[in-house]
Amino acid sequence: MIKKGIILAGGNGTRMSPLTKAVNKQLLPIYDKPLIYYPLSVLMLSGIKDILIIVNKGQLNQFKKILPNGNNLGIKITYAEQSHPRGLPDAFVIGKKFIGNNNVALILGDNFFYGQSLTKKLKNCVMLNRGAKVILHPVNNTSSYGIATINKKNKIIKIVEKPKKTSSNLAVTGLYFFDKNVVKYSESLKPSRRKEIEIVDLLNKYKRRNKLSAEFLGRGGAWLDTGSIKDFYDTSAFVSALEKRQGLKIACLEEIAIKNKWINKKNIVEAIKFYGKCDYSLYLLKLLKQK
Ligand code: TTP
Repeated sequence: MIKKGIILAGGNGTRMSPLTKAVNKQLLPIYDKPLIYYPLSVLMLSGIKDILIIVNKGQLNQFKKILPNGNNLGIKITYAEQSHPRGLPDAFVIGKKFIGNNNVALILGDNFFYGQSLTKKLKNCVMLNRGAKVILHPVNNTSSYGIATINKKNKIIKIVEKPKKTSSNLAVTGLYFFDKNVVKYSESLKPSRRKEIEIVDLLNKYKRRNKLSAEFLGRGGAWLDTGSIKDFYDTSAFVSALEKRQGLKIACLEEIAIKNKWINKKNIVEAIKFYGKCDYSLYLLKLLKQK
């Protein structure tokens, strides 16, 4: 069972420059809320309440303004700083103390997940006791992602980072579930040619031991990238279209928290005060009236 989660929310955000020169990418808006709300909502939907957010050195205060300690959401948020983007598995080296002897989930701060049965699938993933689990989803541009080849039994045969040529279209998404060995394995990784420790190398350590499994979002699920400016606007348009049509918000943290019974109406009233006069507050007000 996984009760702890890490959001890796540092990075240079080079592709988004100059937007990311003064502000961390994860604090920029995806339609009506900061990007970080989306990966945080995924961890909360999976039932994880103990969360470590890893940010760039010097950016702690920016994040704490919008996500202080988690009390307002009935969760616990702690922070750690990364001195420079050393690679994704660095999350487990930095998070060693936070993880302790526990299993842990990792979500990249710029990943967006949405879809039918997502919560059910997430709840299934956090049941993991041993080994590692990744979520696979088809993509068009396979040369931008880690691509997994699977056999007829949905078992991962190999993962290749940004392949030029591949017969598979299944990308490894930025949501991972690991047993407690992840710290030890991550510490033993050597930097690659691009001078980063690589998540593919970490996953291959599990695969070699026959301990790597896969979950699938399915065609009805959306996994969107927010790495480039175009991706950012495409994802915003997706959220805007759905929210306007349904009148329901994607990744409203207070809504998830109250549904999980982690907070009560009083907390929602406080949240409205915190956000002030805005559409998000009007939505929270609507929630208050419903219950
Ligand atoms: P990337 O897309 O690799 O990097 P980036 O977001 O900084 O963008 P760019 O390539 O344009 O410079 O990272 C994916 C996510 O993981 C992103 O949210 C940043 C985060 N990250 C870290 O926090 N630390 C790291 O060491 C790395 C590699 C990524």
